[in-house]
Amino acid sequence: MEPIIIDDLTLKQIPGTQEFAQEIYDIFTKDTDTFKHWFEGGMWKSVDEVQKYYQNRALNNDSRWKYAMYGIFKNGELLGEIGLSGIDTKHQTGEIGYWLKKSARGQGLVDKLIPIIEEIGFEKYNLRKLNIWCDDDNIASRKHAEKNSYVLEGIQRARKLWPDGSIHSTAMFGKLKSEWKK
Ligand SMILES: CC(C)(COP(=O)(O)OP(=O)(O)OC[C@H]1O[C@@H](n2cnc3c(N)ncnc32)[C@H](O)[C@@H]1OP(=O)(O)O)[C@@H](O)C(=O)NCCC(=O)NCCS
Repeated sequence: MEPIIIDDLTLKQIPGTQEFAQEIYDIFTKDTDTFKHWFEGGMWKSVDEVQKYYQNRALNNDSRWKYAMYGIFKNGELLGEIGLSGIDTKHQTGEIGYWLKKSARGQGLVDKLIPIIEEIGFEKYNLRKLNIWCDDDNIASRKHAEKNSYVLEGIQRARKLWPDGSIHSTAMFGKLKSEWKK
């Protein structure tokens, strides 16, 4: 993945180093309340687990599912990630994913970067459709889907069982390539 520069932001792949793994582990464990929405099965258990995940993802060697997630950097500081958190090469669809550390929120970064990721999805990967799926109580994420003109296609009820025993529904938003305005 080639780095992308947009104003004062650089989007580039997060290397699978111990240093970045520690940084990401710290960001997530300091804010378990909002990051619970990012995980299906619970928070990172160790720095080692984070490092293995990023090393694996960089290999991108699954024959069907691909990833194009970019670290968001400003003046060398890692602010979060955005990109295609799952590209289904068989059906030519992709899911947009994003997270920001707390200090980087409320500045419109995700809304600024979603169009860049759409261009990558629809043009570089030639996808037919992009999805944003989020917990239906993840208001910040839902707002991004709505503001960027994604269509709410349904609520999948009681889709997720969290480690604390609570059950959560998923709001499924989508945008077809034909609905995309570059
Ligand atoms: C999702 C995330 C990236 C959004 O951060 P952000 O882009 O800076 O967005 P903001 O914090 O500005 O929130 C977006 C909007 O939702 C509103 N909002 C956020 N949390 C809210 C809450 N709990 N109740 C009501 N409104 C809320 C904000 O006021 C803002 O409204 P506006 O657009 O009208 O100004 C960030 O919350 C995050 O990293 N969460 C954890 C990871 C995650 O959930 N990722 C998405 C998985 S689908």
